[in-house]
Amino acid sequence: MRILVTGGLGFIGSHTSVELLNEGMEVIIVDNLYNSKESVLDKIEQITNKKVKLYKKDLTDKEEVERIFNSEKIDAVIHFAGFKAVGESVREPLMYYSNNLISTINLLEVMKKHNVKNFIFSSSATVYGDQGLTKYAESVGRGKTTNPYGTTKAMIEKMLEDLYASDNTWNITILRYFNPVGAHESGLIGESPNGIPNNLMPYVMRVASKKLEILSVYGNDYPTPDGTGIRDYIHVVDLAKGHVKALQNAPKGLNIYNLGSGKGASVLELVNTFQKVNGVKVNYKITGRREGDLPEYYADAEKAYKELGWKTEKTLEDICRDSWNFEKNNN
Ligand code: UFG
Repeated sequence: MRILVTGGLGFIGSHTSVELLNEGMEVIIVDNLYNSKESVLDKIEQITNKKVKLYKKDLTDKEEVERIFNSEKIDAVIHFAGFKAVGESVREPLMYYSNNLISTINLLEVMKKHNVKNFIFSSSATVYGDQGLTKYAESVGRGKTTNPYGTTKAMIEKMLEDLYASDNTWNITILRYFNPVGAHESGLIGESPNGIPNNLMPYVMRVASKKLEILSVYGNDYPTPDGTGIRDYIHVVDLAKGHVKALQNAPKGLNIYNLGSGKGASVLELVNTFQKVNGVKVNYKITGRREGDLPEYYADAEKAYKELGWKTEKTLEDICRDSWNFEKNNN
């Protein structure tokens, strides 16, 4: 199988490319390098000892997308490319709608023209919004999103449903990620956000490596055992393997799966595990809640287990160890 991976040099795209190559599939990457580095390609090749073709192109340019499909035989597309910063999406909504929607529409139109109708979409648990639950199953359905980034994910999901309704020869798998963290155990690829990170794990790593002074723990008065927020942290290698399983095992038609561990961990549990596993100090202070944060939510991960034969294998300890290993190797 020859798989086109959009955003294949990014955090989740690079790990997924590695797992696809490990399974003997061929990978073609298209990436505009907006939020990634070309050097990641060498790392992917180094880990797998296989060659990968890279198109440094932007999917918002439809002619370029056409050119790729004219020159490559493609069996399936995994679509990661897109803007993903929640805060930035609130400040620059048009940039998010324009980039995330136009690139996806271009891709689907060109796929349709070339009769390539196997598509996996990188969605997010953010599409559930706040429905007053802690555990979210796919059957709960989409709720009200709270920022333009999340709305682009929900809009694309809806677009895919409409596309499938119009032509049920498509095979479309929507994967809703919970909180992807961790890094490849080789220490060669991982997450390296530009500027000051917004998400918990990248921030913890910057504090542990003394690049930032102190972590703000956003609230310890939530109705959770230690008062801090609870999320479902999923190791990026487990997440990547979920995509391989989706390619191999998803039933025909349109299917939606949560990719999460099914278990929650609190902010302090994560910080304490990180300190213990790595023997480093993470200075933190308790501050007020961050606007828009929910107290607790995690995946009901049963559907992916039953239908795809996939579940997470790595622990919070693995996540903390591999993240720190990557940070030490690369900074
Ligand atoms: N947190 C802190 N301090 C920080 C950063 C985060 O205490 O400096 C806390 C948050 O309050 C929350 C937890 O750590 O309780 C996780 O926060 P993240 O920012 O790492 O992740 P979120 O759960 O807010 O959001 C993530 C992704 C979104 C995605 C969403 C889907 O960042 O892209 O999960 O569920 F939409």
